Amino acid sequence: PATGALAGVRVLITAGGTREPLDPVRYLGNKSSGKQGVALAEAALAAGASVTLIHAPMEVPAPAGATIQRIETALELRSATLAAAATADVVIMAAAVADFRPASISSGKIKKRDNVDDPVITLVRNPDILLEVVAHRAAQNQQQLIVGFAAETGDDQGDARSYAEQKLRRKGCDLLVVNEVGPGDSGAERVFGQDTNQVEILSLDGASPVQSGGSKREVADAVVHLIAQRLSTG
Ligand code: C5P
Repeated sequence: PATGALAGVRVLITAGGTREPLDPVRYLGNKSSGKQGVALAEAALAAGASVTLIHAPMEVPAPAGATIQRIETALELRSATLAAAATADVVIMAAAVADFRPASISSGKIKKRDNVDDPVITLVRNPDILLEVVAHRAAQNQQQLIVGFAAETGDDQGDARSYAEQKLRRKGCDLLVVNEVGPGDSGAERVFGQDTNQVEILSLDGASPVQSGGSKREVADAVVHLIAQRLSTG
């Protein structure tokens, strides 16, 4: 049997950036590399957990030893995640989920034509999967531990921390791992695709925020450590 801080614990992780199709060859995507999600899967496996990784396209391979489910769109991520969450002790939502998807998918390639107006893309909201996982927990398994991620920027209305605290309450997850993305491109470039990360982990129960930085694996180990602590005292 597995040994380690998460021995026997079933951990579900989502990772990667969803793709929302426009036509058979095009999609709307985002810059998520999947590296932080994969590092979390590796850290949880190393701690003895049994890991299911549901992932959208990523720049890195999925780890050996996890049960893998590959999806593309937010709606696919939603059905796979809600099904798998029913048997998970811990859910970590590291995927970058598109907030919007094209309202319709063209069955043929969208063409450029002379003397015809350029196409306009109408977007509709995707469901918030994290909110749904939290709502299902209330009905099914109140012991389940749910971890969200957030990339926050501050503005003249408030700092990144206060936005993150509002998000934690709105989402209702137990832990929120917050990247401060900083204004402008350079901040986003510090997170997306990089091998390092700098985060603050906020707790819904009011425990003091935990800072972690370094490689994405080091950040993952810090998240796994906090999870193990909560499971042992919960
Ligand atoms: O609201 P925001 O996108 O900043 O929240 C980020 C967190 O919510 C991440 O954990 C992400 O995986 C999750 N999320 C989700 N469904 C969405 C958007 C975000 O589960 N449609």
